[in-house]
Amino acid sequence: MTQNEYKEKIDRALEDCFAVDDALPVKGLAEAMRYSLLAGGKRIRPMLVLEFCRIAGGDIDLAVPVACGIEMLHTYSLIHDDLPCMDNDELRRGRPTNHTVYGECTATLAGDALQAEAFASILHADLPASRRVLCAECLADAVGMDGMCGGQYLDMLGDGRILSENELNDIVTRKTGDLLIAACRMGVAAAGGSQKQMEAAAYYGAYIGYAFQLVDDMLDVLSTEEQLGKPIGSDAEEQKNTFMALLGEAECRRRVKTLTDQAKAILQSSFDDTAFLCELADMLAERMN
Ligand code: IPE
Ligand code: IPE
Ligand code: MG
Ligand code: MG
Ligand code: MG
Repeated sequence: MTQNEYKEKIDRALEDCFAVDDALPVKGLAEAMRYSLLAGGKRIRPMLVLEFCRIAGGDIDLAVPVACGIEMLHTYSLIHDDLPCMDNDELRRGRPTNHTVYGECTATLAGDALQAEAFASILHADLPASRRVLCAECLADAVGMDGMCGGQYLDMLGDGRILSENELNDIVTRKTGDLLIAACRMGVAAAGGSQKQMEAAAYYGAYIGYAFQLVDDMLDVLSTEEQLGKPIGSDAEEQKNTFMALLGEAECRRRVKTLTDQAKAILQSSFDDTAFLCELADMLAERMN
């Protein structure tokens, strides 16, 4: 499948989630959840789940609920990341942020519910129980205290202070890298792939994950609001520590290139058909949104 075909498949599956029914007492909450989930987004994480599942020999149709699950979790992290108490942003995926439209309380709950629904989607997949459990475990390990939430916490503690490169690396590994690693591992897990494939998937995820935040920090300075669908200059305004501020554009670009090459190389030993993932790594390095 091409990137667009994957994206369409994922978008179609997400469209069926959390139907808004007028008779539903929690209609407003479902609406807020769908608002952010269906606002667009590159769908990188679910795409990684499906492609790693495919190259590890699995059935991608059975992995769709796993792919939807990680996108729900990612969307929750974005809704919360934009809240006034965090990055205080008003634009996301080309639309006003969730709290701007629905208010802070509903936005917080929409994020909370999306996190739980993410695990429900994975655990209800039509896969052998051992694979569902492993997928859920990969995700849980990536997003809790030691993973994404821990990274967001350390990111917040660093606001207004200048962090060392080691400190920034630790934050980025947790807040962004761990979820991308989980996406790759969950694809292999859904396919019942080998331990060796799980490890190669984790390395690929770690390399593209680090590069992903480097590019994200660069785009906050170099892109336009129209292209990016989120505010430009938000990091400087919030006194965030970023790779752009710490290393400068040329060094960021150099690192992105090295990491992308490493990501592509690591796959060769464990998988046969790596063309899609090599192209995806290149696309992520050159993206403008
Ligand atoms: C943004 O993620 C948050 C970071 C981890 C930097 P994406 O750039 O994947 O956002 P969407 O899903 O395409 O909106
Ligand atoms: C946040 O990083 C990563 C998350 C866990 C959501 P950023 O704060 O840089 O993400 P953007 O730029 O708002 O998407
Ligand atoms: Mg943030
Ligand atoms: Mg942010
Ligand atoms: Mg950013």
